Amino acid sequence: MVQHASHQSQPLLRIEGITLRFGGIVALDGVSFDVQAGQICGLIGPNGAGKSSLFNCLSRLYAWQAGQITFGGQPLSALTRHRVACLGLGRTFQNLALFPSMTVADNVRLGTHSHVHGGFVRDALRLPGVRRRERQADAEAGALMELLDLSGVAGRRAADLPFGTQKRVELARALACRPRLLMLDEPACGLNHEELEGLGTLILSLRERLALTVLLVEHHMGLVMRVSDKVVALNFGRKIAEGTPRAVRSHPEVIRAYLGPQAQECEEPQHAGIA
Ligand SMILES: Nc1ncnc2c1ncn2[C@@H]1O[C@H](COP(=O)(O)OP(=O)(O)O)[C@@H](O)[C@H]1O
Ligand SMILES: [Mg+2]
Repeated sequence: MVQHASHQSQPLLRIEGITLRFGGIVALDGVSFDVQAGQICGLIGPNGAGKSSLFNCLSRLYAWQAGQITFGGQPLSALTRHRVACLGLGRTFQNLALFPSMTVADNVRLGTHSHVHGGFVRDALRLPGVRRRERQADAEAGALMELLDLSGVAGRRAADLPFGTQKRVELARALACRPRLLMLDEPACGLNHEELEGLGTLILSLRERLALTVLLVEHHMGLVMRVSDKVVALNFGRKIAEGTPRAVRSHPEVIRAYLGPQAQECEEPQHAGIA
């Protein structure tokens, strides 16, 4: 934990005064925080707090009105959505975003597209290099399916698999773009107890093996407390607390707005697990 947070010189991700409005709704209101390379940063807060909106700003799906996001020293506003993916931001969605009728292997292989790609014309004409890139994409997808215990279902249609397995497919696809920053939006939601146990271990081991930095939106406080180096709490689009998991969990405003008075004694908020 400490060794990951030690190089404080330039954060991998810097969010500075981000404000995002939809008509009269202020989804994000001057949110600022940094994430250091190698950190796992938990992002918590009640429904509607602005967590997914922040992810959508990071993916350049939403255009914010004020503030700046810097990734690896580069302002995100200067990049297209495709360049953001190439630059190393991978994500999963709160609601699964797989291609349901495609196989697991094809879904994962699609994720390699942002870096294993030779251009439409080259690919269409199958010019030299295309076969080699296809083999590279196959190999990378295969390694990720192995890592996420999906090899046995590689040829199955994504839609035919249990929800927890589909979530791992989505994770494999996000990893296939070789992200430096992995953004997980409620990965525990809908998982059974056993899958939940495995998820914490998986996130920690992926961070080590793939040298990832992780931004984790999650309601399950047990998971957030277990894996996060730091936690940021949002409420109505504003940052209400930032610090160690323990400090944020006992922060009066976080307890009032989100966790409820029992939170300091129990592992999870009263409404943990609600999407
Ligand atoms: N595309 C959108 N159009 C209009 N309002 C939106 C849109 N996306 C999010 N919002 C609003 O922004 C606020 C924050 O939502 P969201 O980021 O989804 O919260 P969270 O993920 O923390 O539950 C909510 O009031 C939500 O209704
Ligand atoms: Mg959300």
